Amino acid sequence: MNKLYTLGAIAAAVAAISLPVLAAPPDWGKVPAKTITVFYPGASPIEWITKGSEHGGARAMRKGESCASCHHDEAADMGKKMATGQKLEPKPIKGKAAAIPVQVQAANDGANLYLRFSWKQPAGSGGDKMDKDNPVKLAFMLEDNKIPGANLSGCWETCHADARTMPDAKDDKKTKYVKDGALAGGKFYDLVQWTSGKGAKFDGHVADKRVMEGGKALVDAKGEKKGDEWVVTFTRKLAGGEGDVALASGKTVNFGFAIHDDHAAGRYHHVSLGYTLGLDTKADISANKQ
Ligand code: HEC
Repeated sequence: MNKLYTLGAIAAAVAAISLPVLAAPPDWGKVPAKTITVFYPGASPIEWITKGSEHGGARAMRKGESCASCHHDEAADMGKKMATGQKLEPKPIKGKAAAIPVQVQAANDGANLYLRFSWKQPAGSGGDKMDKDNPVKLAFMLEDNKIPGANLSGCWETCHADARTMPDAKDDKKTKYVKDGALAGGKFYDLVQWTSGKGAKFDGHVADKRVMEGGKALVDAKGEKKGDEWVVTFTRKLAGGEGDVALASGKTVNFGFAIHDDHAAGRYHHVSLGYTLGLDTKADISANKQ
């Protein structure tokens, strides 16, 4: 290969890589925060949610009511029922936090989406460390209005009774999945995770199974604990590749997030209900241009 050509290609590649990294995060002090309480869901898979005989909300959901419309204000009280084992949790963990109120902020600069999550570390259970390496993990999912129900139920379309660590699971390798999920046709959730142990970041998706790699949109994920407050921020390109939900000004997508607190693994996380994330539009969380 021609030497000059190679140098040019390298320079172009370096520029392409470093451009998004140079993107300036917003002045978070000026970005409004929305409090979203993540709660301990126990084993409440979509099958339980939609089975009319067991869950009071099932009928209204068929008429288009969202989980958040009924439960947003009472997430902490709900979490208490599952965390204590009063409901939907055959294996309660003593001292497990019922819920965690999280401040969520979002912004964009025309090229990147910025998300910031901050919360106060709740008291730990002092029990088993299921994930020894990571005291905390934070993940969020985006969905492009292609999966039936995802606009009402957030991440619940991926939460099934037969997934690993669920009480009725038969296969300990079965991860979360979407019924009839496929990248082709966009029936997937875009999944991004930050883990505290080594500060690692993952850009994956959930279609017929959970995949923790392959995404092209995530630029950066950072987190730290100052005193008893966690702050985790993400920088994500608006456009991406296969397995990334393409974002653009004026667009609204479905959004949910989860925290694995206190060394939790698998289903033992705290989750949000489903919300909307809008770019320069009015939504539950608006990521406006800074
Ligand atoms: C129309 C209102 C309504 C909607 C919509 C709704 N629910 Fe419920 N949900 C209820 C009521 C009422 C209960 C309490 C009684 C029961 O268990 O049926 C409940 C109970 C629950 C519980 C058990 C904890 C508790 O407080 O009893 C969970 C977990 C839950 N809902 C999650 C969800 C999720 C997730 C969604 C959306 C996928 C959802 N709900 C949609 C009304 C609703």
